[in-house]
Amino acid sequence: MKDYIEKIPKAELHIHIEGTLEPELAFHFAKRNNVKLRYNSVEELRSAYNFKNLQEFLDLYHEVSKVLVKEEDFYDFTWAYLEKLHEQNVRHVELFYDSQSHTDRGVSFETVTNGIYKALQDGKEKLGISSYLILCFLRHLSEEEAIKTLDKAIEHKEKILGIGLASSELGHPPSKFERAFDKAREEGFRIVAHAGEEGPLEYIWEAINLLKVERIDHGNRAMEDPELLVHLAKSKTPLTLCPVSNLELCVIEKLEDHPVKKMLDMGIMATIHSDDPAYFKGSLNDNYVRTAEALELDEKDIYKLAKNSLEASFLPEGEKRNLLDELKSFE
Ligand code: ADE
Ligand code: ZN
Repeated sequence: MKDYIEKIPKAELHIHIEGTLEPELAFHFAKRNNVKLRYNSVEELRSAYNFKNLQEFLDLYHEVSKVLVKEEDFYDFTWAYLEKLHEQNVRHVELFYDSQSHTDRGVSFETVTNGIYKALQDGKEKLGISSYLILCFLRHLSEEEAIKTLDKAIEHKEKILGIGLASSELGHPPSKFERAFDKAREEGFRIVAHAGEEGPLEYIWEAINLLKVERIDHGNRAMEDPELLVHLAKSKTPLTLCPVSNLELCVIEKLEDHPVKKMLDMGIMATIHSDDPAYFKGSLNDNYVRTAEALELDEKDIYKLAKNSLEASFLPEGEKRNLLDELKSFE
């Protein structure tokens, strides 16, 4: 099974670039930029990767992100991640980034966006990985700040395909950002949002009805509402699920409890992704392998998950078709 997972072409659609920053690289940047971390060594930092909930993780994730200061830092760590994707036969990536986490501490929007974007362009040229950038509003901040961020994204529209919604979910419903997303849609951005990870299932309905999302990131809590499950299946709205992340953030108690297999069997366009692999000890292929073991998935299920990942991507039809044709030889 591991062999099969490794060789099939796949797309990664739920990945936060800040969540790919490995401790070794974080210390390298800390030294290069003279930034002091609260931890004295790679081992000490890694041992703090033990979370009871989403907020505990986010606190550390934003803290470690402070080592990223210059454009070359954003380039270098994006490049390091692309090399990992290449090893896993990931052919297309749609990458989230949290510009507000950096602009709020004085790093310019251009430094962040250009560094990441240049690495993605090189990834296409040198590794053959196609990619899109999706800017996520931080939902613990205000809608006014989200709109200011959107205005910057509009200035750099040629580099940014979509707008998403991430960070602390509880108490920050999609409805808080309705006007910001109205404007993002008017400007032609593709729309996604995290919903129903820790937050209630109503947030999934809000993301669909108010933000008019094209994909839901996570969406585990949909399992509580039969009507929503039917709607997701009928509308073919993809759910980008992250099993290892769910385990590490205590959204589920054990991988055996993950809903992905049930969702597939209900005809929902479920996909599997890694979320923040540096923090959760789980690459994209690890997510596939561990989920397959826990839920006794067979090659047909894995094939379906990889196919869904390509179909749920924002790639133009022609490019999607090429990857799907390549996948077909593994059916
Ligand atoms: N930002 C990075 N990882 C996240 C997650 N799992 N949920 C919400 N926001 C995030
Ligand atoms: Zn996420």
